[in-house]
Amino acid sequence: MGRLLALTQAALFLIGVCSQSIATPHFPPRPPAGYGAANAVNWRDESPLSSPPEIILGPTHNLEDIPVREVDSDAGVFDLHSVSDEVYTRVSHPMFPHHSLRIKSSKGWCDSVQSYTGYIDIGAKHLFFYFFESRSPSSDVILWTNGGPGCSSSLGLFMELGPCQILSADDVDSPKFNPYSWNNNASVIFIDQPIGVGFSYADYGEHVGRTEEAAKDVATFVAIFFEKFIFKKSTTDVKFHLAGESYGGRYLPVFAAEIMDQNAFLKRAGFAPIPLDSVMIGNGITDSFTMATSYYDVTCTNASLQPLLPISTCARMRRAIPRCKEMLKAECIDRFDTMSCAAASEACDAELAAPFWSSGLNPYDISKECDGPIEETLCYPITKHIAKYLNLPETRKMLGVSKNVHTFRGCSDAVGIDFQSHLDGMRQTALYVEQLLERGVRVLIYVGTYDWICNHVGNYRWTAELPWSGHDAFNAQELREWKVDGEVAGMTRNASGLTFATVFAAGHMVPYDKPKQALTMLNRWLAGQEL
Ligand SMILES: *[C@@H]1O[C@H](CO)[C@@H](O)[C@H](O)[C@H]1NC(C)=O
Ligand SMILES: *[C@@H]1O[C@H](CO)[C@@H](O)[C@H](O)[C@H]1NC(C)=O
Ligand SMILES: *[C@@H]1O[C@H](CO)[C@@H](O)[C@H](O)[C@H]1NC(C)=O
Repeated sequence: MGRLLALTQAALFLIGVCSQSIATPHFPPRPPAGYGAANAVNWRDESPLSSPPEIILGPTHNLEDIPVREVDSDAGVFDLHSVSDEVYTRVSHPMFPHHSLRIKSSKGWCDSVQSYTGYIDIGAKHLFFYFFESRSPSSDVILWTNGGPGCSSSLGLFMELGPCQILSADDVDSPKFNPYSWNNNASVIFIDQPIGVGFSYADYGEHVGRTEEAAKDVATFVAIFFEKFIFKKSTTDVKFHLAGESYGGRYLPVFAAEIMDQNAFLKRAGFAPIPLDSVMIGNGITDSFTMATSYYDVTCTNASLQPLLPISTCARMRRAIPRCKEMLKAECIDRFDTMSCAAASEACDAELAAPFWSSGLNPYDISKECDGPIEETLCYPITKHIAKYLNLPETRKMLGVSKNVHTFRGCSDAVGIDFQSHLDGMRQTALYVEQLLERGVRVLIYVGTYDWICNHVGNYRWTAELPWSGHDAFNAQELREWKVDGEVAGMTRNASGLTFATVFAAGHMVPYDKPKQALTMLNRWLAGQEL
């Protein structure tokens, strides 16, 4: 989930999830001023990163950082199982002299597998990650990221697909075992990125505001992590997958591209390349242009459920579509003029997305009312329990959270605003997907059908329109049902490495709404089978 950010002249920010964002000063959707309560809490970060620490000191401010034990980085790969749970072990990579990785093992989780947490230190920037080994022998490794931009992947970990879940207030004392965790047959890494998100921090408060910049940090993390830990057993059958949702639809194609381009350098320097096999995007915002017009389909037709808005509103929305398409194409695609693209997307947002907010429905699941206020809960009060758990001194100690991170917040407004100011979400991310497919990286686009914010209609359209060599073969396929235990789970089609799939009656966070279907889909995908 990500969150929805909106920028009004009064600099009012609100969260949502997918796109939340997006980029432009207002497209994607932004709730009207006053939607929800004014004083937000944990899941939302109201303080800019530069706030004086005393304002945001959390309950854990007197925790000390755990010690770091230096190890000889030239000793090559070493055994992850020798990593301590008391102190951090630091490792580095000769190709990245300014980067190193601190890792510790973590006891006390509900799963029996080995788990680790740590930071990759990139100069003054520090990215936090969790790593869970697979429950069964597997050579697949998944890196998961949530969206925002600016939201922590702990949402995916504890609410959606991680081994230990926090789904109620009781789980804050001891997270519950998740039988449908994605580490059933794959190792899974959750990363708080970019800098400034979740437990990630920077010594002087700096953060990044563009996906391309975030991609460099993630690619470096992947290179060091694989060289030091994953390649220990083998470099031949390991398969790496990038997965995420929401704004991850923008992040992941760019991260994958950076990893592929970095491979050329790794090989030249004599290191094994990262065996990137696939990219999996759930309810993503890969293409803001088709998403803009699809808000009409979801709110005014039976595409997801039934029409939600008044006929007069729908007629007005329908009239705006041609104009909106034309403006976005002219100002954001044919050329990219920051001011005019922002103006075009703001106008389209006002016509096509804004009307939804009057419905009071959950933008991540239109079959429900928002259990809000949205700025506090993202419509899911679970998010508050997760934040509470992550702010417990015991939790922070077990994870090795730096004392520089005062209070955990689910989403960082400062990061979201930075991305928005660069119109990061209005870039043509689908062009990266095209290149990845041409180079043999498989791509899975899966979408819960009840989501409004990053819906299946928009995702169907961009995958159908994608200009790549598999375009005709892909479009020649009819959508067909895919099943789990004999029951229809959704519709799918695939060709030449690209798969599109819907998940019926799931909202934005598919593994939360349909855990069994999501895990079945994942395992079939990892095994290279048809869904
Ligand atoms: C787990 O994944 C491996 C490949 O990494 C595969 O060979 C094996 O059959 C899978 N096991 C299950 C139970 O799906
Ligand atoms: C949309 O759903 C309504 C109510 O179920 C139904 O009466 C109508 O025929 C449907 N419209 C289309 C175009 O399928
Ligand atoms: C769809 O995916 C399956 C599994 O990878 C593959 O066997 C099949 O050939 C694909 N279909 C097309 C039309 O490429």
